[in-house]
Amino acid sequence: MEMEIFAHRGASGTHPENTMAAFKKAVSLPIAGVELDVHLSKDGVPVVIHDEAVDRTTDGAGFVKDLTFDELKELDAGSWFSEEFRGERIPSLREVLELFDGTGHRLNIELKSDIFPYPGMREKVIGLVKEFGLGRRVILSSFDHETIRAAKQEAPDLETGVLFMEILSDAPAYAASIGADALHSAIPFAVRGPGQRAVDSGSILRVFTVNSREHAEWVAASGARAIFTDYPEKMLELFGGHK
Ligand code: G3P
Ligand code: MG
Repeated sequence: MEMEIFAHRGASGTHPENTMAAFKKAVSLPIAGVELDVHLSKDGVPVVIHDEAVDRTTDGAGFVKDLTFDELKELDAGSWFSEEFRGERIPSLREVLELFDGTGHRLNIELKSDIFPYPGMREKVIGLVKEFGLGRRVILSSFDHETIRAAKQEAPDLETGVLFMEILSDAPAYAASIGADALHSAIPFAVRGPGQRAVDSGSILRVFTVNSREHAEWVAASGARAIFTDYPEKMLELFGGHK
């Protein structure tokens, strides 16, 4: 069975994560899709960055929620990774959706409301997804399961994925209880009994973050549908391109 490859935070092993450079690299590859993380700026703009704070991946400091979109745009989001990428910026979600307009890639938008609640973020993200007509190309996921439950009620046609680190003993029942269409698990769940039972009973399983050949082979043997990887080119050598 085909293994679907999702570039985790874009092609983040070789490019600064969650930047246009990382996403442009990902769209140049024959992979199934990309994963990206969304937070909300102080003035309510959905922006693409992994951490709650800008410190690790930019030359700035502070929480995303305390900085306006214009303030966030002043930060350099590339030079922490390599001098070659100086000048990369934190993208808005809109900018990223524009890049993927017209490509066939799927987009896994992770709603990062599991630490700060970001009132209104989910509704704005769903609004953008509808504006761009992305429909079934999108998967909304989160460690904030309450936002997954609400997203499924507000936009039943969009696919949802429940993110978790635990070895849930009956993940399909839990996913069904919150309206999640797919399981998005860490590697240990995928390779143990509960993950196997979930796959055997028909659950869609996507696994993060799979960067080594050894882990990729384990996860492939589990019957998972997809992997999230920082190294999509390396995983293409192993699994081949998306049909
Ligand atoms: O969506 C899969 C994965 O991205 C979840 O963890 O921390 O990399 O966002 P994290
Ligand atoms: Mg993520």
